[in-house]
Amino acid sequence: MNSNDTQFAAAASRAAFGPDFVWGSATSAAQIEGAGALDGKGPSIWDAFCREPGRINDASNIDVACDHYHRYRDDVALMKWLGLKAYRFSFAWPRVQPLGRGAWNEAGFAFYDRLIDSLLEAGIAPHATLYHWDLPLALHTQLGGWPSREIVPHFVDYAAEIARRFGDRLETIATLNEPWCVATLGYETAQFAPGQTNRAAAMQTSHHLLLSHGRAIKAMRAETRTKLGIVLNHTPAFPATELEADRRAARLDDGLNVRWYMDPVFRAQYPADVIEHLGADAPRIEPGDMADIAQPLDFLGVNFYTRSYISTQEPKVPAPGQQGFTDMGWEIYPKALTQHLVRITREYSPPPIYITENGMANADRIDADGRIPDAERIAYLREHLAALAKAVELGVDVRGYFYWSLLDNFEWNSGYVKRFGLFHVDYATQTRTAKDSAHWYRAFIEAQRVGH
Ligand code: NOJ
Repeated sequence: MNSNDTQFAAAASRAAFGPDFVWGSATSAAQIEGAGALDGKGPSIWDAFCREPGRINDASNIDVACDHYHRYRDDVALMKWLGLKAYRFSFAWPRVQPLGRGAWNEAGFAFYDRLIDSLLEAGIAPHATLYHWDLPLALHTQLGGWPSREIVPHFVDYAAEIARRFGDRLETIATLNEPWCVATLGYETAQFAPGQTNRAAAMQTSHHLLLSHGRAIKAMRAETRTKLGIVLNHTPAFPATELEADRRAARLDDGLNVRWYMDPVFRAQYPADVIEHLGADAPRIEPGDMADIAQPLDFLGVNFYTRSYISTQEPKVPAPGQQGFTDMGWEIYPKALTQHLVRITREYSPPPIYITENGMANADRIDADGRIPDAERIAYLREHLAALAKAVELGVDVRGYFYWSLLDNFEWNSGYVKRFGLFHVDYATQTRTAKDSAHWYRAFIEAQRVGH
């Protein structure tokens, strides 16, 4: 690590970011908490999915994960050491309502109460997400999960209860994290829980997620004055060649992952070209649904990791990967962050944006003197912060940046082998070790602070 490098990166972007810019890091409940069946927590679809042979690449589960449920105070101390102004976490729905409807679990609420108080004591603003993929299993087995419309009022009740209990201590509340992943990876490609392969169910799921989002926003407005929004994953699609087929395929890819969620939320309609493409698999929509979905929001969360490079030819034209690929195999292409933020600002005039996730998995190793020299992650961070500064200079209203993730954690169907953390986790001992990137980010945040 080179401290000149940090100083330089911080100085270069200081004017863009301004003194109130929020520097944060993010996690989610299922990926770090553990305590899978403790203190009254009910099982989620991910607890069950991990028990199905062959679903998780390293055959792991989330019973213990990073044991954050017991170690949250130490983890808040790590955040404080980093100098974070904000921390993004999620509530585990089955921890506070074990069956997803009916009785609340006070011991579950007590955990989040302690976590939020520790954050506030440390001067770190809590940014919460209500649904980061851990659906109470009972809603899946008894109601059929997200493809069933019956799920919507239960999510709305849960959202209102969180807003009622915690709204005054939370800086923001996001309803959903990455609904595209929930719908498509969970119900169409089977990579994620509950592991189904039915496109119609996936599209119906996307509609119920969006409807749950809109109605939850309405219900939460009655309970809290805190800022409310949604977190979407955006992977901008680039045609590999000028061929008409590649351009069309890229437009459709964008339609399915970006416009399918942005259009209903900000324009109260689904994109017509995608509806046409889906044919009989398009979702059933009831009168009033679209107006319910398009509630005014206080912020938009954007998770950005990579671009997709769309080639229809055989053999496929590979992504150039001039800046390399992460350990997930994702192309590193920071420029797309600038371009994409400018584009969505122009097309949708969204509310203020937070980059709610950005980061990389890297094959990190501890060296002989206990250091973790993750130069690749430092470069990724530096380049993405530069791309973000550029977007701000071009007029995009970005209020904060959350690095994914604070800690190495359970990377869903990839298990624990993919490491995204600023802190390395030794899962046998639960020891956390700051990687070089943690030192870099800490120095960057400090240089931003001092410079203003
Ligand atoms: C998006 C998800 O929100 C998060 O849970 C996941 O770990 C990261 N991307 C990395 O894949």
